[in-house]
Amino acid sequence: MKQKIILTGDRPTGRLHLGHYVGSLKNRVSIQNSGSYDEMFLMIADAQALTDNASCPEKVRNNIMEVALDYLSVGIDPQKVHIFIQSQVPALTELTFYYSNLVTVSRVQRNPTVKNEIKLRNFEANIPVGFFTYPISQTADITAFKANIVPVGEDQLPMIEQAREIVRSFNRTYAEVLVEPEAVLPTTKAALRLPGTDGNAKMSKSLGNCIYLSDTSDEVKKKIMGMYTDPNHIRIEDPGNTSNNPVFLYLEALATDEDFKHYLPEYKNLDELKAHYERGGLGDVKIKKFLFQVVDGILEPIRKRRTYYEERKDEVNEILKQGSFVANKIANQTLHEVKEAMKINYFEDEDWLKSSKSNF
Ligand code: TRP
Repeated sequence: MKQKIILTGDRPTGRLHLGHYVGSLKNRVSIQNSGSYDEMFLMIADAQALTDNASCPEKVRNNIMEVALDYLSVGIDPQKVHIFIQSQVPALTELTFYYSNLVTVSRVQRNPTVKNEIKLRNFEANIPVGFFTYPISQTADITAFKANIVPVGEDQLPMIEQAREIVRSFNRTYAEVLVEPEAVLPTTKAALRLPGTDGNAKMSKSLGNCIYLSDTSDEVKKKIMGMYTDPNHIRIEDPGNTSNNPVFLYLEALATDEDFKHYLPEYKNLDELKAHYERGGLGDVKIKKFLFQVVDGILEPIRKRRTYYEERKDEVNEILKQGSFVANKIANQTLHEVKEAMKINYFEDEDWLKSSKSNF
């Protein structure tokens, strides 16, 4: 039977937020808990974070611990998942270099995620080479573990597509060594992209519109009570719009029928609540209070686990060290196979001296 190997990761450029949780972390924890996989790796992509943060290694360094704490606090179990730090696995860098030869500049230029990120960062003509080539490095991250399943957010799909192309090219050019990965997205549409609390399409640190997994109950309450809703829903009796309304989009991604039973029993489910809002007579404060209860209910156990690990950073350090040790073992094995396929394993190749002689 085909092995199920899972790899995914995040750049340590900030604390993780609710958008990460519904878009990917929740999915990872449920895969972990389902137990239906052979190996699972979670990578803190510090080297990738440095591709556009070259001048602030301190920021990246500090956020490695934050992201590790976020992982552990959402319920990632280090007994089941290898959590590791990208820069501590040198084989990944070496693989990147060899894969670069199989990719053209114009192909990377066409990658929609790279294109978009270049625009967002106003790089224009000053794109760091390392940043430009990060899809290739991401292919190394995935293929080093022969991962076939990559749970990610929607924005990462072009990366996985590019990785598949590199794998096919490598296998065609040298030998069948690498495995083509597949992306796994969240199953509900609402979870694909959680908007910011201000109604902006995406939660983003620079916009200050995020609810962080590590926010206190008071911080969350303040953020939710101040959320953007339907600007035309002025008086309670006005009919309201639910489709572009972040409060409803959050509820769609997060609220269960159980939550209604618990906190808002006068409605059976979200459809009933929406219908009332749309016909008018339902105030924003009431739904915001409900949303706060739902979100706080999700975050409370996360905060508890976070406090546990915050007081035991040496334990977290040990988890990362152990994870990186295992990751090195596996990535080195793949690198070995890659070099063998490319016939650049000279000192292990008995034919080396014979074949080079015949070329004279
Ligand atoms: N690009 C991902 C992000 O922006 C991080 C990442 C690096 C990654 N390498 C990966 C994700 C490999 C999945 C697989 O968060």
